[in-house]
Amino acid sequence: MTLNPFGTVSPAQIVQAAERFGTPFFLYDEALIKKRCQALLGMPNAFGLEVRFAMKANPSLALLQVIAEQGLGVDASSMNEARRAHIAGIPYGRLMLTTQDVPSGEDRAALEQMLREGMTYNICSQRQLELVLPFLMQNAVKIAIRINPGVGAGESVTRNTGDKYSSFGIHLAQLDEVKNLLSKSMVRIEHVHAHIGSGGDPEVWRDNIDRMLLLTEQHFPDAKAVNLGGGFKEARMPDETAADIEDLGKYAKQRFEEFRSRTGRALTVAVEPGTYIVANAGYLVTSVVDIKSSGPDGFQFVVLNAGMESNTRPLLYGSRHPLYVIDRQGEVLSSEFAANGSARPLSLCVVVGRCCESGDSQTLDDQGHVLPRAIAVPEIGDMLVIGGAGAYCSSMSLGNYNSYLQPPEVLLKSDGQFALVRRRQTFDQMVANELAL
Ligand SMILES: Cc1ncc(COP(=O)(O)O)c(C=O)c1O
Repeated sequence: MTLNPFGTVSPAQIVQAAERFGTPFFLYDEALIKKRCQALLGMPNAFGLEVRFAMKANPSLALLQVIAEQGLGVDASSMNEARRAHIAGIPYGRLMLTTQDVPSGEDRAALEQMLREGMTYNICSQRQLELVLPFLMQNAVKIAIRINPGVGAGESVTRNTGDKYSSFGIHLAQLDEVKNLLSKSMVRIEHVHAHIGSGGDPEVWRDNIDRMLLLTEQHFPDAKAVNLGGGFKEARMPDETAADIEDLGKYAKQRFEEFRSRTGRALTVAVEPGTYIVANAGYLVTSVVDIKSSGPDGFQFVVLNAGMESNTRPLLYGSRHPLYVIDRQGEVLSSEFAANGSARPLSLCVVVGRCCESGDSQTLDDQGHVLPRAIAVPEIGDMLVIGGAGAYCSSMSLGNYNSYLQPPEVLLKSDGQFALVRRRQTFDQMVANELAL
């Protein structure tokens, strides 16, 4: 029996891993990651498909190795991410750098070297272009241009990256100036890119296909690839609906074919999802350390030995993550994927972490108010497993807030064996860079 309909992790494996590594820890499901990679590589397309993993979702060395083995490339959002991807074995030819940063000093020299070795630089601002232009004029390297198309969508307003509230990419209003710079330099843009947000409405993603093709036709006569970014909506909770990537692929295929009939140009399509590949393949496995209430008119609180410092998404976005209560023998006491089959009566609980912060809860609405959820009331020492924790949890963790240590990461391999892929941070590591007066 698996914990949910899509993964391969069983409650018994959660208990085994907890006994071996101690809670809290992140657990990743290799088989599901591979399945997601293959689904993406099988997306319908007209004239070729490039798939890059947006490693900001989870930059774990082991996960990058798994994903690279499946044949995907990587989208890095900083020079250090590019370095980490390369260390994981991603050749520069399969790497794209899309960054808000303006690499300078050592980073600038390293960028030039990476570009010479085949990395694609996705230029995200006019300043980035101006600074790199002299190098581009003397070196035949691969560049892309990120457009802010003026329309985006996301799981929350802060996850929309494609409208006037967002600073990402070159806005359409600046496009003429940028094209002017490019035409004087004879540098050609072969890859046009937009990432309009994460987890937004698939309809908006679909509209973006049309918008990007129109922009490519109007402004980028040399483009050979159109990159639609990532952002596929994922269903972490049983009542959520994921984007249908087969359907989006079919739509894109049809539109790219029409584009060819109209213009004679056969464009490759590129996508760079993060969430879709790893979100549901990750679990944050915690133990219940306390249970308390805020009085007859208040709430029942279940206190875990991990919280916002490891999964900040409920506080940041009001995101919901599925909660599983499992006892030490591996019996699932409640699961939101099996609401009627709970071994214990359900009760409305607010699930909190240990940080001195009212926002340290896994059950919040998008205004930051606690939103109790129906789970089995656990006993101290039972495990509470937070699902959907493979993307933007470990990678966006708050580090050492309240001086809690970063948890280890464990991979459940496709052969059923566990591999420790990141050790638990030690106290000494936490304070290593501090200098006494
Ligand atoms: C440029 C870029 N590409 C891809 C992604 C991946 O988005 P998602 O994880 O929603 O698929 C992001 C996420 O912020 C991004 O900024």
